[in-house]
Amino acid sequence: MSTLPKTLTLDTSTSRANPTPQPMKRLTVPRIRQRKGGEPLVMLTAYTVRQAQLLDPHCDMLLVGDSLAQVIYGLPHTVAVTMEMMALHGAAVVRGSYHAAVVVDMPFGSYEASPEQAFNNAARLLKETGAAAVKLEGGRVIAPTIEFLTHRGIPVMGHVGLTPQAVNILGGYGVRGKSDEEARTIVDDAIAISEAGAFAVVIEGVLESIAIEITRKISCPTIGIGASAQCDGQVLVSDDMLGMFDRVPKFVKRYGDLATQYSAAAKQYADDVRDRSFPTQDQIYKG
Ligand code: KIV
Repeated sequence: MSTLPKTLTLDTSTSRANPTPQPMKRLTVPRIRQRKGGEPLVMLTAYTVRQAQLLDPHCDMLLVGDSLAQVIYGLPHTVAVTMEMMALHGAAVVRGSYHAAVVVDMPFGSYEASPEQAFNNAARLLKETGAAAVKLEGGRVIAPTIEFLTHRGIPVMGHVGLTPQAVNILGGYGVRGKSDEEARTIVDDAIAISEAGAFAVVIEGVLESIAIEITRKISCPTIGIGASAQCDGQVLVSDDMLGMFDRVPKFVKRYGDLATQYSAAAKQYADDVRDRSFPTQDQIYKG
């Protein structure tokens, strides 16, 4: 009997944008890797099917980030994120996209114990979501795990600098690499995971000089967030750049003001219901 999780199988006939876009070949991990030093790579986070549909045509990669902790679930940090959350949101984003390579974050606690633990959980995420790759945080310490995964068919994106899953060690989300020693460690971390086989490395929240040095020194693309325009690509949390939150971190540029539009639409609806101007005859069925 099939053990396929039915709710997670891809349904390309019903789940894509309407009208269904021309079938396109998805970007692959090797093609992303080849973009080192070339046209900048565009990555945004996505967590839901509709968000994926809207972002996909404009992006090379969609990241199902564990930032869904704060963005979707109202959690204080990413430590509480589970495999189930990542699998369900990852599958939704794959169903809503047809062009970008989808990368799913491995949640805290799903890969640190051993390479075998990491393989089992990464394989589960790829099977249940249809994503192209996983992302995990860490440097030299996690490099053997990255080598283990990449030698067994699992493409890995690394993540160095400010690593939010380590918030309880770091004590907050401040910029990293202010001391020479920490700067050296971050550069060494990026070199170690690149040499271990990561196909790309996110550099988050570091002094610009560190991001530039890493970008020059490693052979795979760097994706910056609060890093440098000289990285090989950029990523932002979509809801930040769309203006869904009041707080705008320094590294975010707002390209929209969706929170204001959401709120104004909800107020208009509420006013219309209360004064009985909704529904109108246009929204009513007649026999
Ligand atoms: O979880 C996330 O959204 C991320 C990006 C900020 C890089 O890891």
